[in-house]
Amino acid sequence: MTINASPESIEISASDRVFVLTGAGISAESGLRTFRDSNGLWAGYQVETVATPEGWDANPELVWQFYSQRRREAQESQPNAAHYALAELEKRIGERFFLCTQNVDDLHERAGSKNLVHMHGELFKTRCEAKCGACVFEDRDSYNSMREIPICACGARLRPHIVWFGEIPLEMVRIQQEIARCSLLLVVGTSGAVHPAASFVHWANARRGTRARTFYVGPEEPLNANAFTRIIPGRAGETLPCMFKIL
Ligand code: APR
Repeated sequence: MTINASPESIEISASDRVFVLTGAGISAESGLRTFRDSNGLWAGYQVETVATPEGWDANPELVWQFYSQRRREAQESQPNAAHYALAELEKRIGERFFLCTQNVDDLHERAGSKNLVHMHGELFKTRCEAKCGACVFEDRDSYNSMREIPICACGARLRPHIVWFGEIPLEMVRIQQEIARCSLLLVVGTSGAVHPAASFVHWANARRGTRARTFYVGPEEPLNANAFTRIIPGRAGETLPCMFKIL
C-alpha cells in the first residue's frame, strides 16, 4: 500500500522493523521552539541554570518557572502532520514500529502514537526528588505563581520528570534492544548534538549482520549527517505525510 509516496519516499517491506527517533524539530511546526535555534529555548536561559542537577540545587524556583512556562506552551499547542504521519505508520505496521522521542511534550501521544518512550522525560509528569515510592505522577499544574516549590508527602521537594544534562536517559535497555533488531532507522528533527541519541545511528551501523537503512529528515543537516544512508531535506510536517511507501 502506498500512502501518497513522494520521490523521496521510504519503502517499508513486510519484514521491516522501523525505529524512529524524534527531536525538537518535529514539534517546531506545532509552534514549540527548538533548543538550538537563534530564537531557541535556551535563548535567555543558561542551560546550566535550568537543566542540570546543579541548577536545580542552586535555584529550584527558576527551574520550576522554566518548566511551568513550557507546560503552558505545550498545552496550547497541537500535534502537526508529522506527528500524525508517524501515528498512522504505526497503525499500518503495528508492533514492527517503535518510537523514541527526545521531546518532553505529549504531542506524539495526542496524535495517537502508542509504542513510544520519552528518553528525556515528560513535561506533564512530576516526581519526588527522593525515592519515596510515590515517585512519578501525572501533573498538569504550573508552579510559576507559587512562592515555594511543591513538596512531596515524604517532605522532599518535587521536581519535573525531566532528564537533565548529567543524568542518565530513560529506557536505555529497551532502546538498545529495539535498535539492535530494527532494519530501518528514521531520525527526524534533531541536531545530533546530544548523546546518546546522536549515537543511535552509529549503533545501528556498527551492529553485526545486515546493516539497517538509516534516514534523516529535517531542514538542515545534523552534526552526524555522514552516518546516514540518506538525508531527506525538508520540514517534518511537509515531508513525513507523503514519505512512507508500505509494500
Ligand atoms: N522539521 C524537522 N526538523 C526541524 C524543523 C522542522 N519543521 N525545524 C527545525 N528542525 C530541526 C533543526 O534543523 C535542528 O536540527 O530540528 C533540530 C532541532 O535541534 P535542537 O534544537 O538541537 O533539538 P534536539 O536535537 O531535539 O535537542 C536534543 O538536547 O537540549 C537538549 O534535552 C534537550 O531533547 C533535547 C536534546
